[in-house]
Amino acid sequence: MTAAPLTDAEIERLRAQFPILSREVNGHPLAYLDSAATAQKPTRVIEAEAEYYRSANAAVHRGAHTLAAEATELYEDARHTVARFLAVDDDEIVFTGNATDGLNLVAAAIGHASTGRGAGADFPRFALGEGDEILTTELEHHANLIPWQELAARTGATLRHIPVRDDGVLDLDAAVSLISERTRVLALSHVSNVTGIVTPLAAIVPHAKRVGALVVLDACQSAAHLSLRPRDLGVDLAVFSGHKLYGPTGIGVLYGRSEVLAALPPHVFGGSAITTVTLDKAAFLPPPQRFEPGTPRIAQVLGLAEALRFLDDVGLDRVAATEHALAERLLSGLAAVPGIRLLGDAAVAPADRIALASFVVDGVHAHDAGQVLDQVGIAVRVGHHCAQPLHRRLGVTASVRISAGVHTTPAELDRAIDVVASIRPFFGLGEEETS
Ligand SMILES: Cc1ncc(COP(=O)(O)O)c(C=O)c1O
Repeated sequence: MTAAPLTDAEIERLRAQFPILSREVNGHPLAYLDSAATAQKPTRVIEAEAEYYRSANAAVHRGAHTLAAEATELYEDARHTVARFLAVDDDEIVFTGNATDGLNLVAAAIGHASTGRGAGADFPRFALGEGDEILTTELEHHANLIPWQELAARTGATLRHIPVRDDGVLDLDAAVSLISERTRVLALSHVSNVTGIVTPLAAIVPHAKRVGALVVLDACQSAAHLSLRPRDLGVDLAVFSGHKLYGPTGIGVLYGRSEVLAALPPHVFGGSAITTVTLDKAAFLPPPQRFEPGTPRIAQVLGLAEALRFLDDVGLDRVAATEHALAERLLSGLAAVPGIRLLGDAAVAPADRIALASFVVDGVHAHDAGQVLDQVGIAVRVGHHCAQPLHRRLGVTASVRISAGVHTTPAELDRAIDVVASIRPFFGLGEEETS
């Protein structure tokens, strides 16, 4: 049974939980349409962080005093909340700084394994070398591209890319033909942060699994919008950032299948991640502690857990149903504006995308378009959205991106689309100048 979209009254009640939404920007009510860059925070998330500092602040996993024990319990309870959110086990959850950090963790750990030295010597399973291939895609965010470039450069492995078709969609035939016995890592995003289109993982991942490749999913743009089940998707590792799903900045999640995490060496070194240390050598704890050296991001972890409870209370299936309707409205609204070029195949069904669209206003630089929107209180993202290769592939240098969150109303999208329609006339461009 498909879930019911949120009602107008429910969205109004949700909006009331986000203090920032009541402010004005440039004399106009704020329409925050940049949730894909970072989401706004409900009061309960802000309070969860503050309450920790007010009443339970202590270093976790150390010290015998009561506060330390309480803080440790809160921290590990939060890990359990994240694990439940993804329907995985607690020890499969590693807290990171953000998605970028999580992807770098994986690439650095593989790089370390590949040296065959130090701690890397004890974890040879995922070591890479010449002849091995890392496969990513042409539409990745830089965070899921540059760590693999660096890993390839350090290990001698070859980096390959699943190409994007002219319509901004991954070429699935090419994906299948690029996967071979040489493929050791497949790293790809769940949802493109430029087109908002959901990657058809079922058409790619089984091929990678068949050849034994490690599959790494960048779930940054999916985790807040659809029910994320890494095990059902068949991926080995998945990352996302807390700040994009109504949680704090400075916190991210790396999910790893237990036997995969167990086979990866630590990526950075220090206290709390070890069993015994001599002056010459250290032995490391099992995951997840092996990957969380130093004093962790306790307040942020608690804020993230609260954000996940918030999303659970709303119901991600209902969020998805609501956002599919918003996606439809956004796409059809933009399609009706003359002189707009949408990035990504407009024919992809709303159910296979999130409520996010990037576009180019013919004859107007994205930054100028963004400024027109900002002048009337509408916050959108402009630029290459950290996806230069995809923009280059689509023949543009920058675009305007509108993205929705749980608090977005159809009226806000209509308001943005009306302003978008005014941009070309504002710059003195008529329909005849449309290329
Ligand atoms: C698809 C995707 N991957 C990775 C990232 C990086 O996230 P963060 O900057 O929080 O590390 C983003 C952020 O925009 C993203 O959209």
